[in-house]
Amino acid sequence: MRSDRMKIVQGDITAEHVDAIVNAANRTLLGGGGVDGAIHRAAGPDLLAECRKIGGCETGEAVITEGYRIPAKWVIHTVGPVWRGGAHGEAELLASCYRNALRLASEHGVRTVAFPSISTGAYRYPVDEASQLAVCVVGEFLSADDTIAEVRFVCFDERTHNAYSKALREHVDAPSQSGVVPRNRDAG
Ligand code: APR
Repeated sequence: MRSDRMKIVQGDITAEHVDAIVNAANRTLLGGGGVDGAIHRAAGPDLLAECRKIGGCETGEAVITEGYRIPAKWVIHTVGPVWRGGAHGEAELLASCYRNALRLASEHGVRTVAFPSISTGAYRYPVDEASQLAVCVVGEFLSADDTIAEVRFVCFDERTHNAYSKALREHVDAPSQSGVVPRNRDAG
């Protein structure tokens, strides 16, 4: 699975010079704390106005808006699962966040896209499991899609950066294991 097009960086996603950044939003799309709050603060009030018009987003789904005052042209908002112990479809939903965000990016001609560590903050998804899943799902997507040149995982703190760096190293070393990540039940 492709790993040469995945990069792990530490920093503030709102400052990334990429075509699209992904927001770890909530279902209302009306902003919040964490990376959601940072993106809305940096993008300005027009972002909230556009989000209001969209009206909401289900967990695992993704929507796209303009980036307004941030360097990225687009913001892709996705809603990650709240961690409830791991037996409530959390992995399938988190995988859907990455797949749906990348599908939207590809449909909009995005070449470079930055993800935060979806669900591992307020939604308490364990970062080791989340990072392994994220790297695997993105790697699978990139194996089948040549339109996206680079996916950056932008980690806000050292612990998250270490987890994603470890996940990518293991991904590179592991033989390709299709099916490691739960497929969408309704996926073809
Ligand atoms: N750049 C990159 N990553 C960031 C930034 C930033 N500026 N700010 C926070 N993060 C990181 C957090 O440290 C964490 O690793 O984003 C990751 C995701 O954490 P949250 O933002 O709390 O997102 P999540 O766990 O998905 O919870 C979403 O929190 O902010 C609310 O409205 C949001 O209700 C939703 C919930």
